[in-house]
Amino acid sequence: MEALINLAYLLASAMFILALKRLSSPRTARSGNAIGASGMLIGVVATLLDRSILSFEWLLLGLVLGATAGTVMALKVRMTAMPQMVALLNGFGGVASALVALAEMERLQLHHGLAQASGVLLGTIAASIVIGTVTFTGSLIAFAKLQELITGRPIVVPFHHGWNALQAGALGIITALLLLQQTAWPESTLVSLVYTLFALSALLGIMLVIPIGGADMPVVISFLNSLSGLAAASTGFVLHNYLLIIAGTLVGASGFILTNIMCVAMNRSLPNVLFGAFGAEVQAIGGTDRLVRSTTAEDVAVIMGYAQSVVIVPGYGMAVAQAQHAVKKLATLLQQRGIDVKFAIHPVAGRMPGHMNVLLAEADVPYELLYDMDRINPEFEHTDVALVVGANDVVNPAARKDPTSPLYGMPILDVDRARTVIVLKRSMNPGFAGVDNELFYQPNTYMLFGDARRSLEAIAEALKSV
Ligand code: TAP
Repeated sequence: MEALINLAYLLASAMFILALKRLSSPRTARSGNAIGASGMLIGVVATLLDRSILSFEWLLLGLVLGATAGTVMALKVRMTAMPQMVALLNGFGGVASALVALAEMERLQLHHGLAQASGVLLGTIAASIVIGTVTFTGSLIAFAKLQELITGRPIVVPFHHGWNALQAGALGIITALLLLQQTAWPESTLVSLVYTLFALSALLGIMLVIPIGGADMPVVISFLNSLSGLAAASTGFVLHNYLLIIAGTLVGASGFILTNIMCVAMNRSLPNVLFGAFGAEVQAIGGTDRLVRSTTAEDVAVIMGYAQSVVIVPGYGMAVAQAQHAVKKLATLLQQRGIDVKFAIHPVAGRMPGHMNVLLAEADVPYELLYDMDRINPEFEHTDVALVVGANDVVNPAARKDPTSPLYGMPILDVDRARTVIVLKRSMNPGFAGVDNELFYQPNTYMLFGDARRSLEAIAEALKSV
């Protein structure tokens, strides 16, 4: 039986790795997801057969509740609300690991007494509780910020990082005491120490995430995702469960890789995202005396109708306006006129990894038309029209030219090098970084103000009579 269970775990682990591989391209992502879910099913069934389960009633209740909540969320949650859903799922993953570790501590206490348990085991239980609980409360704050239940702006208390350092230090000391001193102390002291860990970690999770601006939340969520994996791996050591160790490590590593990719694309370090309180102050927007060329849908239709090449650059505004179908319709109309149409995708356009890819895939834009930054940037100088649909920071030339800009150094899409630039947005308001955009004042830039979906529909309509 044990060999069979281990074989099932090995199969599930291989399926997780294959799932990750296939999730790395939109073309294979659906099958990757299905393989990952099937691996999880194999893991769950094997675990149920493996453990000496006393009663299935509670398990059944958990299964029904979890499956119902998961199904309702998957069906109901809008694409734009996906980051906060992922935050909640991470949080639940973290707290599950912490609670399992706590239950194991109580089991040890009942059976042999805690003082008999090895220091390493108690240290591992402590690690699961700390990482899992920090992930839980941190994720709840990330969820509340993105759901706008609390302000998305950084909330900073006096001596904020000092308090955090103190709490982290206290957690480290308590964990070390559990690890080294467990035989010297009475049972009740050990239990109190574990519950103190719980409370302090819960507070630390909140304190770590409240000073981070709402738009940095995707990075934080990916980081917390990584932590939830570490908590699961640590609980895997507590339970001696190989699958949990492997799956947790995979989640931890992939979450960290994704966090790193996002930080590189934003030209920021992880400590800067976590401790920088980015977005606390919005930079003053440049003088009102600068000339902005506002245009109409009819004029845009004429410019685009006679172009040979058009590069469409989607950003967060396309998600807000849910303009992906209107974009696809306009692209098709342009292609029917023999115009070369491409989509330029910035890795951090929007508010979550792959945000633009997901929306454009939903509208059936062929993958071949999507170009990443490195492939499309050399093409802008030969492009007739760059159509910017609700993107702002990811096309701000200050990232290349202005060393004083908070965006300086961030890799951007070089739309300013196209012959004509058309920007669809509602106002002159800044994007996430809160900084003015030089692109909007360029002599070859035309602003079409209004909701992106309506603007695109109006351009498509006007194009018919060009
Ligand atoms: P942003 O710079 O945030 O700009 C979005 C623009 O969309 C805004 O200027 C807004 O202008 C416009 N907009 C909003 N609603 C609109 C609507 N209904 N119709 C038309 N326009 C609308 O977006 P971006 O260029 O995609 O850049 C993303 C930013 O998020 C970057 O700074 C990036 O570092 C940050 N970020 C991204 C991620 C990931 S993983 N994607 C993670 C963390 C941070 P108006 O209000 O004037 O319309």
